[in-house]
Order: sequence, then structure tokens, then C-alpha cells
Amino acid sequence: MELKDAVYGRRSVRKYNDQKISDEDLQEILDAGLWAPSAVNLQPWYFVVCRSDKALKKLNEIMGGSIFGLTKILNSRFKSNPEVIDETVNFVKSMGNSSTVILTFLQQEEYDEYTAAVESAAAAMQNIVLTAYSKGISSCWLTAPLHVEDELRAEFAPGKGHLLAAVTLGYSDIKPKAPRRKDGRYIIL
Ligand SMILES: Cc1cc2nc3c(=O)[nH]c(=O)nc-3n(C[C@H](O)[C@H](O)[C@H](O)COP(=O)(O)O)c2cc1C
Repeated sequence: MELKDAVYGRRSVRKYNDQKISDEDLQEILDAGLWAPSAVNLQPWYFVVCRSDKALKKLNEIMGGSIFGLTKILNSRFKSNPEVIDETVNFVKSMGNSSTVILTFLQQEEYDEYTAAVESAAAAMQNIVLTAYSKGISSCWLTAPLHVEDELRAEFAPGKGHLLAAVTLGYSDIKPKAPRRKDGRYIIL
């Protein structure tokens, strides 16, 4: 697939079918994350892939607790689109039935240049979602899990740094429409 097709074609998908992604595909997707650029080559990411029934059950249990904080934010952001609120809340509760969820943590609690560490991990996540798409695998990058960061860190990454986001992966029968891109978001001088 051309890079351009992945960049424009990738969508956030919030419901997956029962088809599981293969170990080989998962490995390639993770490798693509590891090959992202990073500030002073720190490679500051730490990915926890929830894939076993046990890990996914625990993840879904903890995610159920994120709904309260999330609903408040969604209600103010999407007042006139209640269907977006419903879709997002349902997605977050069950991670859209995804059978492979990557939790992205930082390696350590503090960095001299914390923002640069976060940016590096974000670059890795972008590699992950684009590589997944190029393999016909849908994804959604989500920060809703930050509402339950402490619980997720204690369960899945004790001793590591902050949780930054999760990425759900899977196959889907749904092809969401691309949300409109806003004008006025760059200037060429
Ligand atoms: C940093 C970040 C956080 C996001 N958090 C969530 C989230 O918590 N829940 C969700 O359903 N989607 C989340 N998304 C997905 C966005 O809603 C989505 O990217 C945006 O609406 C544009 O749609 P597209 O990805 O299909 O182009 C997040 C995306 C990013 C990059």
C-alpha cells in the first residue's frame, strides 16, 4: 500500500468482529512502533499488549470505571451529537470487542524533556496505526483510559512511567466516514 493511501484511508474504528489478528501481524505492527523517531534516541515507550482472555477481562473491568469522567467531557464536546457520545461510551466499556489492545506507557516516571518523550511515543503510535491499516487491520487510538491510569498502571505496568494512550486493533465490518478536516490549521510563510 502507498503511504498516502494509509495516511488518508485510516479511520478510527470502534467496533471489531471476532477475527483475531495473527501473531506475525502483531509483531510487524509492534516493530513499526519501535522504528519511530525518538528524542535523543531515548525510545521511551513501553507497550503492554493485552491479548490473553485474562488480560482483556482485567482491562475491560478497569475500563468500566473510566466512563464517569469520560461522559462529562463527551457531554460538553458533543452536545448536539448524542449518537457520538453513545458510540464512544459503548466503545470504551468493551474496547469495541477488540482482542488485541496495546497500552502505551512511558518507560520511566520522569524525563528531563517530558514533552519530547510523549511526542516520541506518539510517533510510535502513529506508526502502529498506519502499519495496521496497511495490513487491513483497523484501529483506534484512545486516551479515555487515562481516566483510570492509576489502576491500569498498577495492573499492567508497575514501576513504569505514565500511561499515554491505548490502541485497539482488530478486523471490522464497519467503514466509518472520515470526519471533516478543519480549515485554518496551518500557515505557510
Ligand atoms: C490522542 C488521541 C486521543 C483519542 N482519544 C479517543 C478516545 O478516547 N475515544 C475515542 O473513541 N476516540 C479517540 N480518538 C480518536 C479520534 O476521535 C479520531 O482520531 C478523530 O475523531 C478523527 O477521526 P479519524 O481517526 O477516523 O480520522 C483519539 C485520537 C487521538 C489521536
